[in-house]
Amino acid sequence: MRRPVMIALCAGFVLALGAGVAGCAVPAEKAYDASAHAPALMPASHNGRFAELGAQGCYGCHGSSDQADPLLASAPKMPADHYSNSEPASREIDPVRMQCNTCHGQE
Ligand code: HEC
Ligand code: HEC
Repeated sequence: MRRPVMIALCAGFVLALGAGVAGCAVPAEKAYDASAHAPALMPASHNGRFAELGAQGCYGCHGSSDQADPLLASAPKMPADHYSNSEPASREIDPVRMQCNTCHGQE
């Protein structure tokens, strides 16, 4: 006589769990959409580099000159939008980009 009651209770529990999971999944998916163009993390070799060298230190490898872009051939170059007026020929970092480590976290 007790069995049908147990089955009904279990089914109710599973439904409640399912609804809970679905309810959580929606905002989580939205949050992850934003990471499609997330800035790359600094590799482990860069640990402490921003504190030591500052933005101009980063520029010394990732920046450009009239002769070379990037300055260090093996370093990925800074995108044009990292320069003043989005113009690499300015050879100046856009003021908005000066705090490199606020966007490029440490790996
Ligand atoms: C001595 C040269 C040098 C300096 C200084 C330097 N980097 Fe790098 N960086 C590299 C090289 C080479 C690589 C790619 C090889 C690697 O993974 O180590 C790299 C990789 C990166 C990456 C990963 C790019 C990707 O596509 O995965 C980021 C982000 C980065 N650097 C940011 C910075 C920032 C911010 C600074 C200043 C704090 C900085 N770097 C200073 C040479 C340098
Ligand atoms: C406001 C956030 C922000 C700041 C500050 C910033 N970056 Fe970036 N950076 C990005 C984003 C986003 C990308 C990826 C852009 C793209 O894919 O076009 C990127 C790309 C790069 C790349 C190319 C990485 C690759 O994988 O090709 C380098 C190198 C880089 N940044 C270096 C720097 C340096 C050096 C500084 C400081 C002078 C800096 N960034 C400051 C957001 C930022």
